[in-house]
Amino acid sequence: MKGIVLAGGSGTRLHPLTHAVSKQILPVYNKPMVYYPLSVLMLGGIREILVISTPCQLDLFRVLLGDGSQLGMSIEYAEQRAANGIAEAFVIGAEFIGDEPVALVLGDNIFHGPGFSRILHREAVSIDGCVLFGYPVKDPERYGVGTMDERGRLIHLEEKPAEPTSNLAITGLYLYDNDVVDIAKNIRPSERGELEITDVNRVYLERGKARLISLGRGFAWLDTGTHDSLLQAGQYVQLLEQRQGVRIACLEEIAFRMGFIDAAACYELGEQLRHTDYGKYLMDITAENR
Ligand code: G1P
Repeated sequence: MKGIVLAGGSGTRLHPLTHAVSKQILPVYNKPMVYYPLSVLMLGGIREILVISTPCQLDLFRVLLGDGSQLGMSIEYAEQRAANGIAEAFVIGAEFIGDEPVALVLGDNIFHGPGFSRILHREAVSIDGCVLFGYPVKDPERYGVGTMDERGRLIHLEEKPAEPTSNLAITGLYLYDNDVVDIAKNIRPSERGELEITDVNRVYLERGKARLISLGRGFAWLDTGTHDSLLQAGQYVQLLEQRQGVRIACLEEIAFRMGFIDAAACYELGEQLRHTDYGKYLMDITAENR
């Protein structure tokens, strides 16, 4: 399975913070925001990634992530020239995706919860149709919303409904079989002129091939869309990291634990940052296994 991180948009709601720099580069406590969604794809076992951003911001991601080889991965880059919608990612990425299934994650979505890696891995290897992840929120009208029947089957999907029929927001992580490329090429732009991801998901729903996995209590899907929620996301990461002495979305550690790189390579990455706590952490977790 291939992976796409969509890090476009102009982030106007966070101006002036995002006036000169992409929202997905902003810090969430001690790491750039994009590390968090990228770590999700890695935890699903995905090593081939396409990062899509606006022409003027794409180089920032190139500087940050390089070609991915330091993490035992391959990271490519592509431009989204205008705000044509999330589903355009599959049109832009068609060649990259080839004939494989693909996972899409939005570059500002932060997930954290027990067993998430296992769920992702299980779903990624057996994908047939699309898999969406739902999360109960108190303001579903801000999101794509999914409604399930009493047997837990997805029956309805709507983008930012004025009157939501459930409180399950559709999160910005989507797994698809290869049909998604054709589906995205054939949907029409919405009233606001965008290729809506919810319209793609609806095609799968009509075909009886859309599943919704509900991420329940005890799971964190954090918002980064306002100044307050961005700060709170950072505080959440700070709290857990300081309390447990572990790091959330530490790409080098994940690459090591997923077997993308060995302990010696991970230690070396830590050594390059040895004057920081981040670097010391990498050296600590790999010192024994080198
Ligand atoms: C997008 C999707 C929406 C989804 C959300 C998750 O909305 O259109 O369905 O629930 O991402 O972050 P946006 O954030 O672009 O308004």
